[in-house]
Amino acid sequence: MNSLPQRNELTDEPQEGQTASGERQNLADALAHERNVLRTMIDLIPAFIYAKDANSRFTACNELVARRMGTSPEQLVGKTDFDFFPPEMAQKFFDDEQALIKSGVPLINHEEIAFDKTRGMNRVILTSKVPLRDEHGNLTGIVGTGYDITDRKVAEERMASMERHESIGRLAAGVAHEINTPIQYLKDSVSFVQEGVQELLDYIDALHAAMPQPKEPDENVEELRKEMPPALKLMADGLSRIAEIVRSMKDFSRADQNEVGQVDLNRSIHSTLVVARSQYSAVADAETELGEIPPVTCNGSQINQVMLSLIGNAAEAIRDKVNGTSERGKIMVRTRADGEHVVIEIEDTGGGIPEEIRERVFDQFFTTKQVGSGTGQGLSVARRVIINAHNGSLDFTSEMGKGTTFIVRLPVNGFAME
Ligand SMILES: Nc1ncnc2c1ncn2[C@@H]1O[C@H](COP(=O)(O)OP(=O)(O)OP(=O)(O)O)[C@@H](O)[C@H]1O
Ligand SMILES: [Mg+2]
Repeated sequence: MNSLPQRNELTDEPQEGQTASGERQNLADALAHERNVLRTMIDLIPAFIYAKDANSRFTACNELVARRMGTSPEQLVGKTDFDFFPPEMAQKFFDDEQALIKSGVPLINHEEIAFDKTRGMNRVILTSKVPLRDEHGNLTGIVGTGYDITDRKVAEERMASMERHESIGRLAAGVAHEINTPIQYLKDSVSFVQEGVQELLDYIDALHAAMPQPKEPDENVEELRKEMPPALKLMADGLSRIAEIVRSMKDFSRADQNEVGQVDLNRSIHSTLVVARSQYSAVADAETELGEIPPVTCNGSQINQVMLSLIGNAAEAIRDKVNGTSERGKIMVRTRADGEHVVIEIEDTGGGIPEEIRERVFDQFFTTKQVGSGTGQGLSVARRVIINAHNGSLDFTSEMGKGTTFIVRLPVNGFAME
């Protein structure tokens, strides 16, 4: 207020000049205010927003873009993607943008993979880029937005995979049911033939003995006598094994219908180990020490899913450790009763869980596996969705180089008390 009249006195500026400069000042203030509002708005929007010139150099961006690249909006101006991303990634973005600048055709809802420095991992970004024109209509650059859709994508994939599992489970239950009947009559027939063959052989022996002058033993008959019983035993053993696999498949997928009931967890563990054999058999042997435990009121299908996840993780930890060597690992599953609880331990001889990620292994989407091979939902679903709902707990102990033991504690009647 003081400075304006003083300046007027000095320069003897006409009254209207004073008004003009006041208006300019107001205009500048208004512009600064508007800028500030816009700046705050674009920083608040949970999306990447940026502008680039015709050479794909950043001219502006919001906080989120800068943070993802490990810098500040001011520092980013004048830089390109090549200053931040791996060369192939930057080249891909550059090519997309140059094509857009040439053709003027916007790029809408395009999925791309971009590295996120704050998280130290690749993320899936849903991107739109539109051309920016000057007042004469010339293309001078682009404006882009992007949303991080990684979590949604992963959840969608997980959902799809769960649905696939469910339908495969149903199919497996149906197949197991169908195979069961012919196996039963095969088993009955084999044991009938076993007994019959023995009777025939005994009869031949008796005939021989009754002959006044016994014939020289026939070579072929002698060979049959020697080889038929073990061949029939092999058949019977093979059939028992198939019957066991089929029974486990039935057991495992019968629990499919999301029902709560009294479950014999020792039997669940046995069938899960049979069903999951192909996941670990190449790298590990599975052993059990199943104690006397009471039936547990729980959702059998969900507990099976937890067992399957933990066994899968154990197998992968072992695979990582023994890969390329002739070593094999061991997965040991133990159960025991502990007051009103049943405890299940799944111990592996994998490499252990490094100290620095122990806090995070139960986080949703946390995985150390390659993109596409693990979704990082196994443990989070197991603890957050399943075991917590059963009023139980899921924890682990781990020693680097030695292995990891996951410990599930379930109240015997916890689910019913809910
Ligand atoms: N038994 C184990 N030994 C060593 N590390 C493990 C073990 N179990 C889990 N982890 C670590 O915890 C991470 C998260 O496990 P989780 O089961 O939640 O996801 P994932 O196995 O990576 O993927 P998904 O189960 O969805 O296929 C794994 O990537 C791995 O780093
Ligand atoms: Mg897993």
